[in-house]
Amino acid sequence: MNIGIIGLGYWGPNMVRNFMMNEHIQKVVCCDLDEKQLLKAKRSFHSIETTKNPQDIFKDKNIDAVVIVTPISTHFSLAKEALQSGKHVLVEKPLTPTVEEAETLINLAEQKGLVLMVDHTFLYTAAVKKIKELVDSDVIGDIYYFDSIRINLGLFQRDANVIWDLAPHDFSIMNYILNKKPVSLKAMGADHVGNGMENIAYVHVNFEDNLIAHFHLNWLSPVKLRKVLIGGSKKMIVFDDMENSEKVKLYDKGINIKTKEDEYQKLVNYRLGDSYSPAINNIEALKGVVDDFVNSIRNKTQPLSSGVEGLKTVQLLEASQKSIKNNGKLIYL
Ligand SMILES: NC(=O)c1ccc[n+]([C@@H]2O[C@H](COP(=O)([O-])OP(=O)(O)OC[C@H]3O[C@@H](n4cnc5c(N)ncnc54)[C@H](O)[C@@H]3O)[C@@H](O)[C@H]2O)c1
Repeated sequence: MNIGIIGLGYWGPNMVRNFMMNEHIQKVVCCDLDEKQLLKAKRSFHSIETTKNPQDIFKDKNIDAVVIVTPISTHFSLAKEALQSGKHVLVEKPLTPTVEEAETLINLAEQKGLVLMVDHTFLYTAAVKKIKELVDSDVIGDIYYFDSIRINLGLFQRDANVIWDLAPHDFSIMNYILNKKPVSLKAMGADHVGNGMENIAYVHVNFEDNLIAHFHLNWLSPVKLRKVLIGGSKKMIVFDDMENSEKVKLYDKGINIKTKEDEYQKLVNYRLGDSYSPAINNIEALKGVVDDFVNSIRNKTQPLSSGVEGLKTVQLLEASQKSIKNNGKLIYL
């Protein structure tokens, strides 16, 4: 299989490296509008071919699939053209800047029988897979809340606010782990640069059955925190991505609720049990993304992080944006 990779900035070279390691890939053709990025890539990866024009990739009949690692505002037009040219497509997160565009790409891929995938990298981390396993096997019981913090200093993006840049990770993790349809959300944010793009945001998502989720996103934090807390009726999970080992911890903590007869009162007993950290492997998540894309094309199957999964994240991003611009208005999904 021959691959075209468009966009060789910060993240693109990681894609190039992982595709070059895949046993089913013969040729990698790289494209960037910036000549300097092409020269830099060529120094690291001698065997790649390079071009400044994405059309060279779309028109090349020997290229089977295209990977789009350019800024968010360019995702839709490049992905659309790649699909129209008969190429399978892997797009960086988030899939597109609007729900309408995501739906257009999904329909186009379906009509043409092509794979459309989005790089929601975290779904391929051993930590998130382990949490999914724990939740699906009912180890933590009924889920009460999903509480996520992703904060650090920068990187301020030119074409996206903090929600569009960071929340695709957290929304995709939540959608994957909970596998539930959110009912509504409200979001607040602020722009301290003065360019109309929020650098801090809080998003609150409601589900049925009293389940709530909260996301704290910030580019103006003095410390880097990457944490998710999941509270369940039986156990609780803490996922701390800043930890080198023991990223996932399972706590046998919580409350037991008892109703005392003859008293109109509910009693809360605290459960303070053991905690443990399950063993997880250390394989690079992007290798999982690349393998899933290649195998989905070869086997004609849907990848875990399909276009439809990408759409679910874009729906939450778009609704968050709408709520922020309307002073935290509740948006129904
Ligand atoms: N999955 C992850 O963990 C992760 C991490 C970082 C970035 N990303 C995503 O990767 C994408 C790129 O981010 P980045 O930080 O690498 O950006 P970047 O600005 O560093 O690089 C983008 C590159 O694309 C090139 N480019 C722009 N328009 C082009 C076009 N029409 N044709 C060819 N080349 C073009 C630019 O010259 C630049 O070199 C974004 O969608 C971002 O959200 C994902």
